This record gives sequence, structure tokens and C-alpha cells, in this order.
Amino acid sequence: MPATVVIGAQWGDEGKGKITDMLAAESDVVARYGGGDNAGHTVVVGGDTFKLHLVPSGILYSHVVCVLGGGMVVNPRRLLEEMDGLAARGVDVSATRLLLSVQAHLILPYHIALDGAAERSRGESALGTTKRGIGPAYADKAARSGIRAGEMRDPAAFAQLVHAAVVAKNELLTRVYGQEPLPAEEIAREYREYAVRLAPYLADTSSFLAEALYAGKRLLCEGAQGTLLDLDHGTYPYVTSSYPTVGGALIGLGLGPQHLSRILGVTKAYQTRVGAGPFPTELHDTAGDHLVEVGHEYGTTTGRRRRTGWLDAVALRYAVQVNGLSELALTKLDVLTGLDPLRIAVAYECDGETLTRFPADAATLARRRPVYEEMPGWKQDIGAARAFEELPPAAQNYVTRIEELVGVPATLISVGPEREQTIRRSM
Ligand code: IMP
Repeated sequence: MPATVVIGAQWGDEGKGKITDMLAAESDVVARYGGGDNAGHTVVVGGDTFKLHLVPSGILYSHVVCVLGGGMVVNPRRLLEEMDGLAARGVDVSATRLLLSVQAHLILPYHIALDGAAERSRGESALGTTKRGIGPAYADKAARSGIRAGEMRDPAAFAQLVHAAVVAKNELLTRVYGQEPLPAEEIAREYREYAVRLAPYLADTSSFLAEALYAGKRLLCEGAQGTLLDLDHGTYPYVTSSYPTVGGALIGLGLGPQHLSRILGVTKAYQTRVGAGPFPTELHDTAGDHLVEVGHEYGTTTGRRRRTGWLDAVALRYAVQVNGLSELALTKLDVLTGLDPLRIAVAYECDGETLTRFPADAATLARRRPVYEEMPGWKQDIGAARAFEELPPAAQNYVTRIEELVGVPATLISVGPEREQTIRRSM
């Protein structure tokens, strides 16, 4: 059976959690392909709220097997905390339901210390990272000095590796960044225990997924972060260190492209960003405050207030292009209720020229000014709409205009946080 990939089409926080949760109900396996606990999504089930950072939300369906793919960077301490939290609420997190790729790289305490130290040393040009050690862990992976999850199969040998790595990184922390050294013995002991607990979960997940697909199972590939945060295709250097785009799903899971049948891009009906970096349609007025307050635009992982702005169709068209999106899930349409007029950026302007391409580097993007198209808004509550035709004409026109601008249909439209508050359209 073919696989569906869910991809963030903006700067992350597009509402992928709700969409993934909906699609997980119709899947057998849900696999995350990149990033680490910098991601965060909230799933509301029967009045219960679950905040997840590493474990795919599919874990809440008892028939689903969840995979943490080899493209991820996993903090064992955080993973175990999350698993314990789920278990305490009656969710089965046994090794039959959760697999950790032997190829995933581990985030160790020195990665977190180095993330903080590097951000401080950047001063004014700090990236605004989540300080979860993501960048330093991927840097070690690329430098071929990382420690992979598979090492945890032998906890004693793993503890030695961790000890040696902490000693080596202490040089960097103390001599370059003038920080206190980390306690190598203590960390090695602590991580040995984590290895003992996590060893049963380790698996060759690429083979597991291939076998599942050939056996006719339905696979959902869960993206984290978003296209514009992609290390190569995002607004470099204001990006994360993984590949949230579709190529990241193939590499991060060890999958062949022929398995992908549906590439679903998730976008809000407006734009948000956390952390630093250019944002052409950013608002600093009451419309921006409306989006923050009505849309509850505060980060799940860091609690930071998100920056908000009008939908950027230039950026969205770019996300369609680099991912080959087949369709869109448009989230939080209800948040626009009451704003009139609405604006969509349909092009950029720079030095008197009108430009329609999205530049994948921060310095160039910072010089672009949005060219807006205005559309009438609507006042009616749309939270109860379950069919496209039940939306007010102005909301229908807004959606249709987005589809025209980016060239793919919006097959899912979310009009509220609950699972049922979704319009499904077949195209
Ligand atoms: P890092 O991934 O912690 O290194 O942070 C790099 C940039 O990506 C920062 O601007 C973060 O705010 C942003 N970022 C990382 N993960 C997410 C996410 O899940 N949602 C939104 N922004 C994110």
C-alpha cells in the first residue's frame, strides 16, 4: 500500500498535529522522519490534552505502530519522560508499538549546552533556536562523530562512549565558551540506564517499513517543522538542521520514492514564525494581535509568542514546488473570522521589480516586500461547517483563491481544534 507524507508548508506549527492525528486513524504505521524534541504538537482526545514532542501522535490509536526514524535526533531522557507520561495515562508504549531506528542520532547533554552557548555567542544575530541541542547533534552526525541509538544495544560499551564524548566536548565548553565542564561519570551512569530501558525498542526501521508496505499496510510519514525551516531549502541560516521537506522523509525513513502516493502540505490560512529570520508578510498591528490571540499562537515547545502575518502565497507556491505537494490541508481558517479585509501576498517587490519566486536565503528574502491582493472577510462563526458549501461565500472565495495561486486543491480544511471540525473534500 502506498504511503502518505504530511509536510509543513510554512515555518512549522501549521497544525500538522491535528491533521496527522486524523490521518493516523486510517493508518497502520506512523513514522516520524526528522528533527527531534524541538517539535511539539498538541492532540485533544475526548477532553484529554496530550503534548507530544518525539513520539508520533499515532500512539494514541491502539492499532498503530509508531516509528522514530533514522533521520531524527533523539534525546533519550526526553523520550523516556514522554513514554512514562503516556504510560501513566494508560497508553501502551511497549516495544511492540514503538520502534526506535538504530540509525537515529542521540542528543546528549553537551549538545544542549553547546546549543545555548552558540546562541549566546551569536549575540544580535542569534537564530532563536529551541535550545534542545538539535543543531549540535546534527553537526556531530555530519562530522561523523555522533553517537547513534544503535549503540544502546550494549549499555556498558555505550556508557564508555558517552563518557569519552562528554570529556571531549568539555574541552570545547570550557576552553571556547568558558563554561563549567559537564560531569562525565554521572552522565555516563545516567545514560547507561536509559540504554537498558531503550534497547528493546531499537530496530532496523527501514526494513520494518519496507516489509510493512509490501504486506499492504498503510504508512503515514509524519513531518516535523516546515519547508521554510529546511536546512537546504529554507531561509538559511534561520533554519533548523534537518530536512522537513519530502526528500527528508525518504532519507529519514530509508524509503524508496515509489511508495509515496500522497504528499499533503499543511498550511495555516495565515502565516506564523517563531525564532528569528525574515518574514515578509509579518504584521505589527491589531490584525497581527488578533491572529496571536484568536489563534493561540504560542509555541508548544518553548511557549514563545509566535510572529504572525498574512498568508504568503509566494512561499506556499514554493513549498508546493520543492515538495511536489499533491494537495493542501488548510488549517485555522476560523481564526480569520472577523478580519476584514483579508490580504494574501501574491508576489514580492524589490528595487521596483515584481518577483514571483521565493528566495531560499535570508538576506535576499529580507529585501522583498509583499505585493498584496485584498479580499473581503466574513463575520459568521464557521466552526460548525462540515462541507465546503456551508462556509460563507467570502470564506469559500478565500480558499478558492489560494488554490488558484498555488495550483493544488485544499482537500482538508480545518475550522476549529476538535477532530470533527474539519471539512473533507474529494477532488
Ligand atoms: P532548532 O531547530 O532548535 O535548531 O531551531 C532553529 C529554528 O527553527 C528556530 O527559529 C526555531 O524556532 C525553529 N523551529 C524548530 N522547530 C520548530 C517547530 O517545531 N516549529 C516552529 N519552529 C521551529
